[in-house]
Amino acid sequence: MRVLLTGHQGYLGTVMAPVLAAAGHEVVGLDAGLFADCVLGPAPADPPGERIDLRDVTPEHVAGVDAVIHLAALSNDPLGSLAPELTYDINHHASVRLARLARDAGVRRFLYASTCSVYGASGGDGLVAEDAPLRPVTPYAESKVRVEDDLHALADGDFTPVFMRNATAFGYSPRLRADIVLNNLVGHALLSGEVLVLSDGTPWRPLVHAADIARAFTAALTAPREAVHDRAFNIGSEINNVTVAEIAEQVAEAVSGAKVVITGENGADPRSYRVDFSRFRAAIPGFDCEWTVKQGALELADAYRKFDLTREDFERRFTRLAVLRAASEAGAVDDTLRWRR
Ligand SMILES: NC(=O)c1ccc[n+]([C@@H]2O[C@H](COP(=O)([O-])OP(=O)(O)OC[C@H]3O[C@@H](n4cnc5c(N)ncnc54)[C@H](O)[C@@H]3O)[C@@H](O)[C@H]2O)c1
Repeated sequence: MRVLLTGHQGYLGTVMAPVLAAAGHEVVGLDAGLFADCVLGPAPADPPGERIDLRDVTPEHVAGVDAVIHLAALSNDPLGSLAPELTYDINHHASVRLARLARDAGVRRFLYASTCSVYGASGGDGLVAEDAPLRPVTPYAESKVRVEDDLHALADGDFTPVFMRNATAFGYSPRLRADIVLNNLVGHALLSGEVLVLSDGTPWRPLVHAADIARAFTAALTAPREAVHDRAFNIGSEINNVTVAEIAEQVAEAVSGAKVVITGENGADPRSYRVDFSRFRAAIPGFDCEWTVKQGALELADAYRKFDLTREDFERRFTRLAVLRAASEAGAVDDTLRWRR
């Protein structure tokens, strides 16, 4: 398949592009490149692609494409809360526009990177499946719900949207993010000796390795249409349904000498959900996630040591919000996050 991969220069896209290529697909990238230089370790070999803002996509970008994997977005709650209107412009409106262009161009499959954050304040200890009520508590999560609704309305006999509701990712990617929970806790543990938890540690936070997300998308790309057409899937595994306190314990075991410190200063996080991941396994026989939280913590600690992660890079270069703030203060991007040059 010829696959348009948006967000190919992000944390997940950088891991996914080679997995797609190894499965025999021709990958074309599309990304504004906001974090293209945020690399830890050897520079990744990106697929051919265009540096373009999602809001400026034209029919030529989807011409001749068999499938779209749409990852490009302002990718977390702090970014979404920075400028809610911008989040809706980029994450919602531009995504739906891309999907319409794709459908008009005859693209048959559109895999959308949604999130388990759509369950938001679902709370409780029961498992949340895809048909549970959606209770987004942030503009980021709300933008994902709106895209799912609008893409659902576009589904027809020739156009198959698939909603991939990923758990929170972890693991090494050359374009590292240190602002997601496991990556953050491992970095903090190595740099300070403390596994610092600011919430009270009780929220459930299902996790999934970036490589398992890449494998799931690759499987969904070629799955029989009837197995995935217009369906939502939670992406992850029950074994990685963990509380923040449990994540911290795993990190302390992976980084010898590190101590867990739960300050509780941010109180109880309202985002808490335990997730049922069985629907995707049923749709894609043989698929299961391979990585546990502990393995991921060990992998990250190795990578951080090997590539000499510094405190400066940990706090700025690999924190999406800090990178965008710095680009804005330096005048490199305008207040709509478009490059000035
Ligand atoms: N990482 C996670 O834990 C996680 C979990 C669930 C869902 N997701 C979703 O997966 C997708 C990828 O996440 P990620 O962790 O790789 O994030 P990321 O921030 O590393 O990558 C996002 C990419 O989108 C690009 N982008 C942002 N705005 C753009 C615009 N206006 N035009 C063109 N490109 C733009 C950025 O340059 C970046 O390369 C996102 O949609 C995110 O919401 C991520």
